[in-house]
Amino acid sequence: MTDNTNGTEQPDERVPKRVIGTPPPGTPMLGEEESTEVLKVPGVSLQDPRTAKKGERLAALCFTVTFLAGIGFIASYVAFQVGDLDSTGVSNLALGGTLTLALLGLAVGIVVWVRMVMPKYNLVQERHAMASDEEVRSEVGETFMQGAQESGITKRPLLRRTLLLATAPLGLAPLVLLKDLGPLPETKLRHTVWDPKQHGGKELRLVVEGSGQPIRAADFNSPGGLLSVVPEGYEHDLNALSKATLILINLRPEEIKSGTNKNWTHNGIVAYSKICTHVGCPAALYEQSTHHILCPCHQSTFDATDGARVIFGPAARPLPQLPIGVDGQGYLVAKGDFPVPVGPSFWERGDAEAEVREKGGQV
Ligand code: FES
Repeated sequence: MTDNTNGTEQPDERVPKRVIGTPPPGTPMLGEEESTEVLKVPGVSLQDPRTAKKGERLAALCFTVTFLAGIGFIASYVAFQVGDLDSTGVSNLALGGTLTLALLGLAVGIVVWVRMVMPKYNLVQERHAMASDEEVRSEVGETFMQGAQESGITKRPLLRRTLLLATAPLGLAPLVLLKDLGPLPETKLRHTVWDPKQHGGKELRLVVEGSGQPIRAADFNSPGGLLSVVPEGYEHDLNALSKATLILINLRPEEIKSGTNKNWTHNGIVAYSKICTHVGCPAALYEQSTHHILCPCHQSTFDATDGARVIFGPAARPLPQLPIGVDGQGYLVAKGDFPVPVGPSFWERGDAEAEVREKGGQV
């Protein structure tokens, strides 16, 4: 632009001057004026100049790495030709490695730039009150009352009463649907088929699971032995077996501790429920040397010599012990039912255990 009034050319101050090279000391850096403005905005603060300088260098280093890695990527593409498996592998490695480095450098550089160089903002978003204002609420109330009056629900008792009558069965429908859950369990979960009372006082024999062989106590006489046992006559009744399956262990009488009810053993033979008291897996792994019964599901461990009390794992209760003895022919039989429900805890266990304590039995 020129000023031709006196025939000489004058520089136009409105046009920004182009600065080439490093500005002399004291010249404001590009953006410093804006930065001063930024400082005046509430909630916005500039980075500490030393941090900003450090961030600038770090970001620049990252961008340089990106540049070099980008060059490396192009060079790798040219240098490493693919063909056989080995050369393809080397090419992939070089291309992938350089591209990863390039993108990583770029990403880190940008993050450093934003976090260490750019101003920090404390942003607060104001929220309006959740409730509607008084005017809107009274309007809604009036509309409701107007609707009620127009419907005549207060003036027409016949309509009101028949409406209530119509909806009453619908309110009861969920209760009717509860019937589909099946009959109430009542006391079924507390008792097993071992209970002689269920068979007119007949004591059921213990038979080997799988073969169905009754067990003569005299034949099960080697200490350390373990058998999986079911009630005679119920070998294939899965409902009965889900609660009645046992493990039978032969211990030396002197090994039996106070947790085990000795009156319910026979010559060192003790019977425990096989249903783990944690969530019901079969607990049938037995370590002879330590007399530990192990449940493989979650590693609950029970001490067979001490009433199958829990010595490790998530189970909260011992495996219930079954009272056993022998019949007239020397076969092992159940002398009664388990004193407490078998398997995992359920809602009425508290009642059942309190009942046993009252009777002075073992829990
Ligand atoms: S079911 Fe036995 S430990 Fe979980």
